[in-house]
Amino acid sequence: MARAENRYVCQSCGAAYPKWAGKCDACGAWNSLVEEVTRSSGPPPKGLGSAKGRALSFVGLTGDTAATARRKSGIAELDRVCGGGMVPGSALLIGGDPGIGKSTLLLQAMAALAQGKSEAKLDCAYISGEESLDQVRLRAVRLNVSTAPVLLAAATSIRDIISTLDHAKGPQVVAIDSIQTMYLDTLDSAPGTVSQVRASAQELIRLAKSRGFTVILVGHVTKEGTIAGPRVLEHMVDTVLYFEGERGHQFRILRAVKNRYGPTDEIGVFEMTDAGLAEVPNPSALFLGDRQRETTGSAVFAGIEGTRPMLVEIQALVAPSTLGTPRRAVVGWDGNRLAMVLAVLEARCGVPIGANDIYLNVAGGLRISEPAADLAVAAALISALVREPVPPDTVVFGEIGLSGEIRPVSQTDARLKEAEKLGFVAALTPPRRRAKEKPGASSGIQPREIAHLCNLVGMFEKAQGVTRKLGAGGGRP
Ligand code: TYD
Ligand code: MG
Repeated sequence: MARAENRYVCQSCGAAYPKWAGKCDACGAWNSLVEEVTRSSGPPPKGLGSAKGRALSFVGLTGDTAATARRKSGIAELDRVCGGGMVPGSALLIGGDPGIGKSTLLLQAMAALAQGKSEAKLDCAYISGEESLDQVRLRAVRLNVSTAPVLLAAATSIRDIISTLDHAKGPQVVAIDSIQTMYLDTLDSAPGTVSQVRASAQELIRLAKSRGFTVILVGHVTKEGTIAGPRVLEHMVDTVLYFEGERGHQFRILRAVKNRYGPTDEIGVFEMTDAGLAEVPNPSALFLGDRQRETTGSAVFAGIEGTRPMLVEIQALVAPSTLGTPRRAVVGWDGNRLAMVLAVLEARCGVPIGANDIYLNVAGGLRISEPAADLAVAAALISALVREPVPPDTVVFGEIGLSGEIRPVSQTDARLKEAEKLGFVAALTPPRRRAKEKPGASSGIQPREIAHLCNLVGMFEKAQGVTRKLGAGGGRP
């Protein structure tokens, strides 16, 4: 007979315990165990026993596989992040902070697909568990898509949703906003708990695979910024997209962190306007838009995001510290990486910077993860310290090694081309890897190769006055 059983399930990793505890032993999260009631029927299943299974027939790696047809939405930034369009029968998960624009993006995408903005019209369903029909309609009016033939419903019961979608003529794209509001009536735990989220997603994904529709799930994020619910949700879907951006900025960045059907380092850039999300086809121009030229503590980094070159301004402020432990505040970059650049400046080039408060900011709300930004950060820091601007109309990129050497980075030409397009005339770059790669291959820009961080420090006239003489062991090898 089925008997009710109380378990305590960790809401961050899904581990279950018979007793409550303050800390999850499996993932180390504090205060994450929540009581969930499950019905267990009888003892756990036994091993295989003696019954024999069917033998598998192995095949080769080549075979007749139809090329995956993709469903393009016509919103180019979204299609790019999905790897060229959504794949039929796949599951997408979109995570992001509350109010970042997930529902807006989804409604716009559904409308574009239903209107056949880029290809044939598709049957699209938008199922909202968070907002009422009126709220969604109001938003549709605001986004100017209220005439699009989107199938709209407000529902939270997975049983109803599955019965509705389980038809050969069902919709081809289904958006579920959000998976945390859905519930399965066979489970006793509340919507949003690990077991509900996992079971609901499983049912939807199973149906999507068998009926061949694309399902897009919206997922909430936790305070730490990961998608709420167990990590298994990210394992279950084919594509995980994060929608990020600073609330105060109008830019929104859609980033693929997992994609079984395309690259994962691709980003899409949007701007939140009063009529919804607008695509930003040329982000560099936008990120550099209100840059002040010739200010100190600012350097323009020529980065690569996915397949796209992107220029961003890196700003640094160096101020004498009044505290015993100087402050380090970093927005849009890795704090550990900053510590490394500071240590190299101090130990290898004799720049006395460590005792100051240091603030570093990537303008426009972008997050940079490339090590190639090291040199641009160093340039901004030195410039801020000695109060002398970086040479005008110059882009900077290069990775810094612990001995102070500047390492080559990938796609130099793409970076230089983008810089040239935006009117830059010079570049501080790492030395070229091979002699046969001619410098200046990309015409207009004059790359100036920097072999060691000390050479960069030497470019600032006022730096001569502040650098310390290094004893044996420091400085250039
Ligand atoms: P929303 O899509 O509801 O966020 P999420 O689903 O991720 O929680 O986005 C809501 C925010 O976007 C809200 O703060 C208002 C803003 N917004 C605009 O600025 N312009 C618009 O046209 C719309 C629809 C929303
Ligand atoms: Mg929403």
